[in-house]
Amino acid sequence: DMGGHDTYMHKEICEQADAVDRVLRGRIDDRFSTVHLGGLNLDPREARAIRRVKILGCGTSYHAGQIGAQMIEELARIPSDAEPASEFRYRNPVVDPDTLYIAVSQSGETYDVLAAVQELKRKGARVLGVVNVVGSAIARETHGGVYVHAGPEVCVVSTKCFTNTVVAFGLLALHLGRIRDLSVADGKRIIEGLRKLPGQIQEILELEDEVKKLAAEYADAKSMMFIGRVRGYPVAREASLKLKEISYIHAEAYPASELKHGPLALIEPAMPTVAIVPDDDLLEKNRAAMEEIKARSGRILAVAHQKQDKADHTIVVPKNENELDPILMGIPLQLLAYHVALAMGRDIDKPRNLAKSVTVE
Ligand code: F6R
Repeated sequence: DMGGHDTYMHKEICEQADAVDRVLRGRIDDRFSTVHLGGLNLDPREARAIRRVKILGCGTSYHAGQIGAQMIEELARIPSDAEPASEFRYRNPVVDPDTLYIAVSQSGETYDVLAAVQELKRKGARVLGVVNVVGSAIARETHGGVYVHAGPEVCVVSTKCFTNTVVAFGLLALHLGRIRDLSVADGKRIIEGLRKLPGQIQEILELEDEVKKLAAEYADAKSMMFIGRVRGYPVAREASLKLKEISYIHAEAYPASELKHGPLALIEPAMPTVAIVPDDDLLEKNRAAMEEIKARSGRILAVAHQKQDKADHTIVVPKNENELDPILMGIPLQLLAYHVALAMGRDIDKPRNLAKSVTVE
């Protein structure tokens, strides 16, 4: 049942404020400025002993894991990174007893992720899951974890589940942070930010008409470049993947700082750039990158917290806490990919060559 929407993708994009409300519900603990995560199965002593976090997933879940790794590193000050589960499996990784491994999967059935979990367990590692489907294979194989509570996602490409997964990582990062060295004041600040998310998501969804007009302007692109740095980079990668998957327009994502090391050669009017430009300590750096693109007559669409004079268009999104901004900045780009694909007459819910869950190697 699409509930009045033309596609499941549109329905699922529009459900995100409610979905985020669900992942937060019952978990915030104001008394200690932290969150309760009932299924984590990790006691405080164990949480304090973690020396590293390694997050494993595929596709969109891998991108959510990249944002999650940054959140855990920022809030809990534990060195963290994300890696595609398949790459991890095949490079004979050193499995370290002081590392917390986290498997991320919407379906909970992705074979490469499941196989990585089984291999890690066989070697004695502690593995948690950040999973949407309750009781799925990965949820059952992991020692504990955080359910994402996005509800069923029918469209082959992931939208609301991505957003909820990133919020779930925000909760996990806050939880680990408050057991380690994150102050009460910072805990409160993050909680306030989390509480603002559903309302801010709703505000972003109300920009749909504006984004639809922009989609008409960018639908002629042969290829698109997505740039961001640090917190903005995984957002750029996910937006690039979404556009590729449903519109079949070639897109690539680069850290803004890497442009001058090669991809700047591609910039011309037929290859517009989408720039993720949060209002944080890297704002000036991002403005400089936009200037370089303008100087090569590239078109720029910025997603930012205030209008960007270097960009041809800016989608202005509400500001949250710096650490949580990545949750919001990708949402208008889901709508952009959607409207570009719609204008091109694509089969949005079932893009060619793709399946909802990849249970083979
Ligand atoms: C992209 C997409 C895929 C999945 C990937 C992992 O829109 O849907 O990239 O994210 O196949 O799937 P899960 O999260 O079910 O493990």
